[in-house]
Amino acid sequence: MTKNVGVLFVCLGNICRSPTADGIFRHLVKAAQLGDQIRTDSCGTINTHAGESPDSRTQAHAKEHGYDLSMLRGRQFKKSDFEEFNYILCMDYENLANIKALEPLESEAILQLFGEYCDHDGTPLAVPDPYYGGPDGFANVLQMVETGCRRLLAKVREDHGL
Ligand code: 4NP
Repeated sequence: MTKNVGVLFVCLGNICRSPTADGIFRHLVKAAQLGDQIRTDSCGTINTHAGESPDSRTQAHAKEHGYDLSMLRGRQFKKSDFEEFNYILCMDYENLANIKALEPLESEAILQLFGEYCDHDGTPLAVPDPYYGGPDGFANVLQMVETGCRRLLAKVREDHGL
């Protein structure tokens, strides 16, 4: 069976926030036995970390919670991603603005802030960039992303009858 639903997570560098979301979402998809239907990837708006493994702090926090990110490699967003993915989830408002600026008029991809699926009181929150901060930032990313990925998977399942 082809993996007919594509979900792409986007951040700036593709070594902290979006690989965390990619790894957690993959884990949830596998647990729901939907690995044959849903494909997941992540990327950055910049190419600085293309080909790199996720940041060691990101990997350590994820591992503590049972998520293995070691197989993931960084890449930059490309325009063809608009055709390849049904959902494009951006980690912050700057990522969203940068991707929106590349969006072809005919794109049918759902382009959103990932924070739509996190806890919020009306205005979706950005997932804060943890790269230049301490361990709390990484723990916060993990918590926000876990919540958001659960809700996102429920939405994808509902949208596609899975
Ligand atoms: P990410 O974090 O966007 O969550 O992967 C960052 C990683 C690298 C840089 C900035 C943010 N950087 O400037 O290299």
